[in-house]
Amino acid sequence: MEMKIAKRTAGISPFYVMELLCRARELEAQGREIIHMEVGEPDFPTPKAIISAGIDFLKRGHVHYTPAAGLPALREKIAGYYMSRHAVKISPSRVFITPGASGALLLVLAALLDSGDEVLLADPGYPCNRNFIQLLNGKSRLIPVGAQSHYHLDADLVEQNWGERTCGVLISSPSNPTGTVISQAKLERLLQAVKKRHGFLISDEIYHGLIYEKPAVSALELDDELFVINSFSKQFGMTGWRLGWAVVPEAFIEASEKISQNIFIAAATHSQQAALAAFDPETTLEIERRKEIFMKRRDFLYRRLIEIGFSVPILPEGAFYIYADCSRFTKDSYQFCMSLLEEEGVAVTPGRDFGVVGQATHIRFAYTTEKENLAKGLDKIEQFVGG
Ligand SMILES: Cc1ncc(COP(=O)(O)O)c(C=O)c1O
Repeated sequence: MEMKIAKRTAGISPFYVMELLCRARELEAQGREIIHMEVGEPDFPTPKAIISAGIDFLKRGHVHYTPAAGLPALREKIAGYYMSRHAVKISPSRVFITPGASGALLLVLAALLDSGDEVLLADPGYPCNRNFIQLLNGKSRLIPVGAQSHYHLDADLVEQNWGERTCGVLISSPSNPTGTVISQAKLERLLQAVKKRHGFLISDEIYHGLIYEKPAVSALELDDELFVINSFSKQFGMTGWRLGWAVVPEAFIEASEKISQNIFIAAATHSQQAALAAFDPETTLEIERRKEIFMKRRDFLYRRLIEIGFSVPILPEGAFYIYADCSRFTKDSYQFCMSLLEEEGVAVTPGRDFGVVGQATHIRFAYTTEKENLAKGLDKIEQFVGG
């Protein structure tokens, strides 16, 4: 073919779990029952009040663009959320509504990175981040993290790994895939280490609404001069609506506005209108109820995984994932996941989707399915490893 494909695409890794999902769909089409423990989105529907707000808006028919930074009323509600949840006053002008946290990550990274600039990331971590950086001709430095640092970067790791081209750090807490949370004290020290080097901190807080036993601490409680990413996808059960947000420092408002105008024009209007109901008391209650259910599932899954022989050094404190060490059973988690699917009809995500170090001996289990399904899946896994 004459047309050339941009070289940067070669460095972008696919989601390996998609191959697995494809095979799972084929098996389902053949009539096999598949238990899905790989899916990274809540199994609950979008709360009713949000759907009604979306439908009411659509019925009126005026589905036009919103301002690039988002509906003023929604930006205000988000600023109000930081005040009521975190006792932090932020100006709505710092809130940018985006197509998912994905849009927010792209927006913020585009506002920060020049070609060749390096960002420090935890390995294991959410894979799209390094691909966004690659897309912007930046460089990601993946730093292996383990149970001793709760699978997060900390001040020491930042200091040891800060290189000549390093410009900043991106953290996600609770982490995808480990569900572990960075403590406030560690976050404070990490922030100091970054600031000492005049770098930036991006804090992806997309799973903040799903921290179980203690209050979530937003990085915005510590400082104004950093970037926070969040989304309606996970805690509000709105993955398909494609709606998230970024909070940026004052000095980045103008640049963020320009980038939003050009790359998105605006996030989907009906999604923004629907999300106005996301902070209603009725929705808040429903979300809390769901959080309780997730926590019970986590406890059950954790206990069963340990019983079966997986190793999970830290009880995850949030999100809906457990990242388990499967080295007792295999040194090739990808093959293990493929065989588990073929033989027992259970779909889980191999570690290779999340990083380099330790990926072959880890699997991510998502508890985004009912407890009965989890129980069935775990019995099958037990049979698989026993037989
Ligand atoms: C850590 C993390 N950040 C960002 C995203 C993107 O979410 P969305 O674009 O649906 O808001 C995800 C999705 O799984 C995630 O796990």
